[in-house]
Amino acid sequence: NPIQPPELDKCGTATVNDKPVEYSCCPPATQRIIDYRLPPVFQMKIRPSAHRVSPEYIFKYNLAIDRMKRLPKDDPRSFMQQANIHCAYCNGAYDQAGQSNVDLQVHNSWLFFPFHRWYLYFYERILGKLIGDPTFALPFWNWDNPKGMTIPPMFVDPNSALYDEKRDPASLPPAVVDLGFTKNTDTLQVVANNLTIMYNEMIRGNANVYDFMGQPLREGGEPKGGGSSERGSHTAVHVWVGDPRQPNGEDLGNFYSAGRDSLFYCHHANVDRMWTLWQYFLPSNKVPDKKITDPDFLNAAFLFYDENAQLVRVTVKDCLDNLRMGYDFERIDLPWLDYRP
Ligand code: C2O
Repeated sequence: NPIQPPELDKCGTATVNDKPVEYSCCPPATQRIIDYRLPPVFQMKIRPSAHRVSPEYIFKYNLAIDRMKRLPKDDPRSFMQQANIHCAYCNGAYDQAGQSNVDLQVHNSWLFFPFHRWYLYFYERILGKLIGDPTFALPFWNWDNPKGMTIPPMFVDPNSALYDEKRDPASLPPAVVDLGFTKNTDTLQVVANNLTIMYNEMIRGNANVYDFMGQPLREGGEPKGGGSSERGSHTAVHVWVGDPRQPNGEDLGNFYSAGRDSLFYCHHANVDRMWTLWQYFLPSNKVPDKKITDPDFLNAAFLFYDENAQLVRVTVKDCLDNLRMGYDFERIDLPWLDYRP
């Protein structure tokens, strides 16, 4: 059977390295849950590359995050409540519904892409609502392109709402992201190695759909392994940004705290873009069937608060097409496509 949405009233203590997280990651409880229906798309939102945005865009984004930070603490749309979604779904605050011996975990399986897609979807709509701009689209951190391999500048301005001090000082610009943990000091070699890693995880390393998407996870089961993108570039960026001076690699370097850095959502917008690229733009000679038709995948469900603070139930099958969800990505060339090692 598919993974069912969590029972919010049974949300408990989250843990990090076997110790309890010192605050509650549970969302405010609500009685009424609505089955979410994707609204009709009138205007496509275009998510921009974070290294290419205009000062006007940065101003708007900053304003939206600032307003999110100022919402009352118990508003499910507030900055900390949004960060806590990740903590609750990933650090054992929830059991699987009706399975009190098994934690709910959305990493290391085929739930990874769908869960994070829905998470960003509502996060983006909340930001848009806070600035009265329903076309607002999150930026993506274009770490797969040499032009985007540093932390995007807008996140490192200490006066910005996008700033977070809990990051590895050694990874601040102009440091180049190191997707292969090489610790190589030759920047050109790191860039070349990054492109090779992208080629491998997007193209060469995938013999079937699960190699990319992650292994099946069904009700009562434990995660059996994430896809190439999740295990590769996705995790590398988390670790690379997380602050080694903090006890658990906070913020980006640990599940429970990752959402407290606004860079998390920018990073995940690019992870989400990788899914879209893999689905629609890559040659299908190696993976002829990129669709998972298993009902245990399609009917898996999650709960989120939408931009009106209404609790909604969403399913995996409704998030398989980003265009139907009303957003697309700025087109950027893909230098790794030809980077056959
Ligand atoms: Cu839910 Cu990048 O992790």
